[in-house]
Amino acid sequence: MSLTIDQDRLRSEIDTLASFSDAEPPAVTRIVFTPADLKAREWMKERCEEVGLAVRHDAVGNIFARWNGSDPHANVVGTGSHIDAIPNAGKYDGMVGVLGGLEAIRSLQRSGFAPKHSIELLIFTSEEPTRFGIGCLGSRLLAGVLSPEAAGKLRDKECRTVDEVRREANCTGELDHVRLPPGYYKAFLELHIEQGPLLERQHIPLGIVTNIAAPASLSILIEGSGGHAGGVLMQDRRDALCAAAELILAIESATRSGTMDTVATVGMCEVFPGAVNSIPNRVRLSVDVRDTDLRRRDDLVRAIETACQSIAARRLLSIGSELLNADAPADCAPEIIQALTLSCHKHEFKFLRMVSRAYHDSLFMARIAPAGMLFIPCRNGYSHRPDEYASVEDIARGAMVLAETLAALSR
Ligand code: GLV
Ligand code: MN
Ligand code: MN
Repeated sequence: MSLTIDQDRLRSEIDTLASFSDAEPPAVTRIVFTPADLKAREWMKERCEEVGLAVRHDAVGNIFARWNGSDPHANVVGTGSHIDAIPNAGKYDGMVGVLGGLEAIRSLQRSGFAPKHSIELLIFTSEEPTRFGIGCLGSRLLAGVLSPEAAGKLRDKECRTVDEVRREANCTGELDHVRLPPGYYKAFLELHIEQGPLLERQHIPLGIVTNIAAPASLSILIEGSGGHAGGVLMQDRRDALCAAAELILAIESATRSGTMDTVATVGMCEVFPGAVNSIPNRVRLSVDVRDTDLRRRDDLVRAIETACQSIAARRLLSIGSELLNADAPADCAPEIIQALTLSCHKHEFKFLRMVSRAYHDSLFMARIAPAGMLFIPCRNGYSHRPDEYASVEDIARGAMVLAETLAALSR
């Protein structure tokens, strides 16, 4: 089997996919079920159909593009990632796994390979939490980790439910049918940019992921008392933003009791009423907490909740925190790690065994199938910003190892 990767096509497809965006290039903003996302989905479906893949989508909009294997009863080998992008993102997060996965399939087709197990390219709905506040919506439902009732009721900022917007996007049917039957996938593999600096710093072109860190997120509401910025004396204030500032620093310092794998981020801060001469009476914060060790992650969540209580008591205001999700970490399957390792050895590619500190749909696919991830470097480790960059040579190398491994798993 002689595999080739078409780098020119890959480069041009990455650029075209990036053009479905609500931000000025090079930034990409593509929030789930917005017109930009819907156009990108249609374009992806066409790319899959033009190489003979059978395309379907489920009730939450997860897209499955299947290359039928010779044994229709054999369980499926899956690969893929997401195409939604957070506000002001780059064009590689998720996209590399989808377009690299498609190119891996095309490369196998060109080589004359005929799989026994069907190979399926997945495009997961809303890996990013931007619109509905929870990441990996599609893969959580596929894995049965989130109940269809809870998912259907999730609301965006305009108070529109997942149920409403998915139906408008022609994702009909019931969410109960999204969950996959046990054993559906023989294996699942995701190609992704590292989103950190380690591969680049060590000049190693590939990372084989051994485990994925456990994410949790909280929504915190601080309610104080507003009023006139000139009239209210400092000693009488119950300023919600001052409390938020103290809490944000307390969260940062709480991470210092962990290891390099312990991280926490306050990424959103909404201030009400938001006027220059009005004391903030209400602040909503989003907190993202992660660790590879579940106990340490949970300890950090508890430390944040304790900080909320003590700051509220001292400043005489109210701080409520709601835990939106607290997921367990995942181990990649030894047989997938082994298959990826053999593919790297076959091509004499150096690789690093590494942890994924970012979460991915693979975190949930690992609950229902042996799962694994392959990382490629990204410049300066940048991700979730417009200057995110991965070279087409690195993407092609990843697609080559992915193709080789998909072949090995689907024979
Ligand atoms: C995924 O986008 C993450 O935030 O890890
Ligand atoms: Mn992302
Ligand atoms: Mn991603």
